[in-house]
Amino acid sequence: MKILIFGASGRVGEVLREVALAAGHELSTPSHTECDLEHPVTVGERVLRSKAELVVNCAAISRVDECEDNALRAHIVNAMSPAAMALACRHTGARFIHLSTDYVLDGRRPGLKPVDTRCKPVNFYGMSKAEAEFQVRENNTDALILRVSWVCGNPRKPSFVENALAQALRGEKLFAAADQDSLPTHAQDIARVILSPQLEGVSGVLQVTSCGEPMSRYSGAKMALEHACNVGILPEMPFVEAQRVCNISRFRAPRPAHTAMDNSELLRLGIPMPGARESIYRAVDDYLSFVRS
Ligand SMILES: NC(=O)c1ccc[n+]([C@@H]2O[C@H](COP(=O)([O-])OP(=O)(O)OC[C@H]3O[C@@H](n4cnc5c(N)ncnc54)[C@H](OP(=O)(O)O)[C@@H]3O)[C@@H](O)[C@H]2O)c1
Repeated sequence: MKILIFGASGRVGEVLREVALAAGHELSTPSHTECDLEHPVTVGERVLRSKAELVVNCAAISRVDECEDNALRAHIVNAMSPAAMALACRHTGARFIHLSTDYVLDGRRPGLKPVDTRCKPVNFYGMSKAEAEFQVRENNTDALILRVSWVCGNPRKPSFVENALAQALRGEKLFAAADQDSLPTHAQDIARVILSPQLEGVSGVLQVTSCGEPMSRYSGAKMALEHACNVGILPEMPFVEAQRVCNISRFRAPRPAHTAMDNSELLRLGIPMPGARESIYRAVDDYLSFVRS
């Protein structure tokens, strides 16, 4: 299949590119400089010119604080360009898959959030992504939006899982937020879902995340380090200091507290997802193979 991927150099996009190439798909992966999402018209034209059967948008300004500092740019890149992609796909007949986030939720109440929970973001990143969901659905009723959370498993773009391990290996002091929870999603699983034949003809929003109960980054980091101890990479379990999000001075944007998503619709469609612990262990194993190679 001919696939056009935006954001193929990112944490998810890079893994998607590898998985799609290995599956024999023909890819077009315009870089940031070749097709800048700050220019939605150019982006739409790029889709119109393509012969792609599937267009996947993994591009975004995904750094929450960067969006807070430049809300207009976040709106254009994260919402207006995906809207242009969705519209252009409607014209070409290509399938459009767009990635979204658990940060579209306000996270006020603990527990797993059903897919129809009202979007009420608490920061400009979440606002831009919620606006994208709305615009994409308005412009293309066949489009599929995949909400993912706390992506791990790309060793070249470390997440809180790989960072905790890397810091522990360097003997650094470890901190992690204990009062914010969600669920990790392994990048390989996102790629598998995107390319999954079971999703042909499925539109709307799907929540793509590991199975399990909501967990904090503190718990996730400790799981990663315990696994590293069990496989003999760390001689002993390092101490991890539990932090409160409000005390993390580099955070300029507010963070939603409880955004773990219910993935039962995905399971119902016949797409299994691993447990959160398994995703974290796999991300650790992938990272260790990467640093050893
Ligand atoms: N990472 C997470 O934990 C997480 C959680 C929930 C949802 N998501 C969502 O998942 C998707 C993928 O996230 P990710 O973690 O893979 O993001 P990422 O690692 O930050 O990668 C973002 C990609 O977008 C590209 N990009 C950024 N600005 C651009 C612009 N103006 N024009 C063209 N390309 C641009 C980047 O290219 P350059 O690097 O060349 O700028 C990069 O390829 C996003 O929609 C994100 O909102 C991620």
